[in-house]
Amino acid sequence: MKIFETHAHYDDRAFREDRDRLLKKMNEEGVEYIVNIGCSMDSSRKITELVTQYDFLYGTVGVHPDDVKDLTEEDMGELEALSQRDKILAIGEIGLDYHYDDVERDVQKKWFVRQLAIAKQQELPVVIHSRDAAKDTLDIMKAEYDGKKGGVIHCFSYGVEMAREYLDRGYYLGIGGVVTFKNGRKLKEVVEYAPLDQMVLETDSPYLAPVPFRGKRNCSLYLTYVAEEIAGIKQVPVEEVLEITFHNARKLYKL
Ligand code: NI
Repeated sequence: MKIFETHAHYDDRAFREDRDRLLKKMNEEGVEYIVNIGCSMDSSRKITELVTQYDFLYGTVGVHPDDVKDLTEEDMGELEALSQRDKILAIGEIGLDYHYDDVERDVQKKWFVRQLAIAKQQELPVVIHSRDAAKDTLDIMKAEYDGKKGGVIHCFSYGVEMAREYLDRGYYLGIGGVVTFKNGRKLKEVVEYAPLDQMVLETDSPYLAPVPFRGKRNCSLYLTYVAEEIAGIKQVPVEEVLEITFHNARKLYKL
């Protein structure tokens, strides 16, 4: 069994006690690649160090929309430099999040556009976070990112119509624990609709653990539960889901 984890946050303090042991254990048990996703300047810095310690660990750098409030142009210079470091595969997670509306929408848009420019400049794919901001995200992606290097819409949370917009433009959809939730119907419909060769598996660890671990700390080994759910929806063997999504993830991140 080979698993490709496309989106996790092992730099998070939830893993401070057992990070090293857990990372090694997951790798021994079949998680062949892990991409650790940046969400702030601080995590982006940490990740460029963390990836040097494990063969199977790769990273991305970027600032999550919840964290863009105090960004400066100087930060963008640093982010661009960090994106050129070894084993950094993409810019992300970047995007728009109108769920809590903690950060003004115009401020979020400004830094989303700015980070997309870095991705274009560095010819890197993007990891997109978009929550309750479907139209603005798509409009900006269309206007500001040609998509030549592609990317993934992480933790895809919209319906089939919006999925089609991204699939038609060659993006991957990141599918995680939510697909196993009782109230995950919308995502199950998207999984039914989308081709398997445009999906990748992700946990968003430490968050969003699948059933039967819902509410607990997530980890990449639980991706088998996500794969099983997808296999059930698509009516294919779970091995096929793991195999195809593994291949997709390598294409997405150019590995
Ligand atoms: Ni995330």
